[in-house]
Amino acid sequence: MKANITAVKDFTISTIDKRIYGSFLEHLGRAIYEGIYEPDHPEADENGFRKDVMKLITDLNMPTVRYPGGNYISSFNWEDSIGPIEERPTRLDLAWKTRETNEFGLNEFITWCRKTNIEPMYAINLGTRGIDAARNILEYCNHPSGSYWSDLRIKHGYKQPHDIKMWCLGNEMDGEWQVGHKTADEYGRLVHEVAKSMRKFDSSLELIIAGSSSEAMPTYPDWEREILEHSYDSVDYIALHKYWTNYDKKTTSYLSSSIPLQEYISTVEGTIDYVKAKKRSKKQIKISFDEWNPWYHSRDMQTQNFLDKNLSEWPKAPPLYEDMYNILDTLLVGTVLNTFINNSHIVKIGCMAQLVNVIPAISTVKGGISWVQGIYYPLYFASLYGRGESLQLKIDCPKYSTDIADDVKYIDASGVINNENKELSFFIINRSEKNNININFNLKDIHIDNIIDQQIINNEDMYAANTKDKPKTIQPQKSSIAQFINNQLSANLPCLTYLFVRLKLK
Ligand code: AHR
Repeated sequence: MKANITAVKDFTISTIDKRIYGSFLEHLGRAIYEGIYEPDHPEADENGFRKDVMKLITDLNMPTVRYPGGNYISSFNWEDSIGPIEERPTRLDLAWKTRETNEFGLNEFITWCRKTNIEPMYAINLGTRGIDAARNILEYCNHPSGSYWSDLRIKHGYKQPHDIKMWCLGNEMDGEWQVGHKTADEYGRLVHEVAKSMRKFDSSLELIIAGSSSEAMPTYPDWEREILEHSYDSVDYIALHKYWTNYDKKTTSYLSSSIPLQEYISTVEGTIDYVKAKKRSKKQIKISFDEWNPWYHSRDMQTQNFLDKNLSEWPKAPPLYEDMYNILDTLLVGTVLNTFINNSHIVKIGCMAQLVNVIPAISTVKGGISWVQGIYYPLYFASLYGRGESLQLKIDCPKYSTDIADDVKYIDASGVINNENKELSFFIINRSEKNNININFNLKDIHIDNIIDQQIINNEDMYAANTKDKPKTIQPQKSSIAQFINNQLSANLPCLTYLFVRLKLK
C-alpha cells in the first residue's frame, strides 16, 4: 500500500499546550503506596519517594499530574491528609473499598511534584463536600500567611504557598457509581458557586468542570450543555474521560477508536460553542481530557467481586487494575496522542490514566524493580518532541470500515514543528494488520536538512507485553525505514507499527 502525507509550513493548527502530555495519580490500588511512595524501598529518598520511579517519570518530562482522584475524591476529606503523619486518621475509602492511612497526603504530593518538576493539578470533592471545603483548601494551599489555614500550612512545615493553579471541581459527577452523584442541574449550579468563591480568592485560577465520564453515558451530550449553561463564565475547561477495551481482539476495529474519539471531542467543542453563543460570551472554554487509556486486561471478576463484597477488613493499597499493555494498546495510545495534537486548538490538558501500577505507564514490584509498559513510549516521544506548532496534515491512503467507524485511514499521524529548535517530528501509526505502507512526504516550504532520529515500536506478537519477568519485550528500536534521499522523505512502515521520526530543518 502507498500513502502520501502533505504538510505546509504555515498551515498550523495551534501551539500545543505541553500539558496534553500529563498523567494522573489516584489513591487507588498501589499507585501511591508501593508505587511512588515506599519508605522501606532501597531506592527511597529522605521523603520515602522511590527514586527509580521518579527517574522514569522525569524522563517523560511530565508537565502535570492530576491528584488525588478520581472516584476516590468524592468521599475524601482533604483535611485528613495534612499535619503530622502519626495524627492523620485512617479512613475507609468507599470508591475502592480500601483503608486509607493518609500517610501520603497533600503536602507530600506537592513535595513530590517539586522534586519531579511537575505542575500539580488538584481535584476537590464535590460529592460529599462543597464550597466550604473548596475555599478552605485553597486558602491552605495558596495564601501566603496571616490566616487560619495558611498559618496551619506554615505550621506543617511549608512556608511557601503551594500555588496550585489547576483545580478539578469534582470527578465524573454524571456517574451513578460516584459518591454524591448529581444531576446536571445540581452539579452545574454547585460548580458555579464553588468557582465564584474560589475566584474571589484568585481570579487567575484555572478551573475545570467535570464533563461526561464517556460519550457512552446516557446523559451525554446534554450533560455538557446543561452544566456549561450554569457555569460558562465561571470555569475554564470541561473535563472528558474515556477508556478503551479490546476484549474481542478485533485488531483493526480497536485501532480505529480514535475516530469516535475525534467525534467526541468535536461534539463537545460544538456544545461549548453553542453555550458560548447562547451566553453571548467572549470567553472560550477548552477541553481537559484528564482521564484516558486502554483499560481492560485487569477488569476481571476478581476485582469486581472485591468491590461488591461487604468486607470486615478493608485492605490497604491492594493490587488493583494492574494492566500489562500489549503492542495494540501501545499503537492505540499513539493514535490518541495524535488526536490530541491534531485538536490542540481545543484540547489543552490531557492526563493519561494512570501513571503508576493502576492502569499504568509504569509498574513496580514492592521492594523490587520498576519498569515501563509499552504505552509509556508514545507518551515519551510526544512529550519530548511534540512541543511547538501542530501541523495540519493531509493524509492520502487506503481506508477501511469497522463496526465502530467508517473511512478509517490505515495511516494515522501527527506532525509538530518546533521553530525554536528548527525541528519537525512526525508520530505515525500503521493500523494495517497485513500490509506495509510506503509513505511519501510532500513537504511544502519545509526544508529538511537531515534525519536526527527515528525509532519504531512493533513486535511479531501483537499481544506481547512488558512484565516483571520480561520488562523489555516492548521497546523502541532505532530504525532506518525513513529515508531522506534527493530532498525527498519517505518511509516504508511495516504493519502494526509506530514510527517516531525527528528531522532537522534548514
Ligand atoms: O482511573 C480510574 C477511575 O476511572 C477513576 O477513579 C474514575 O474517575 C474513572 O471512572
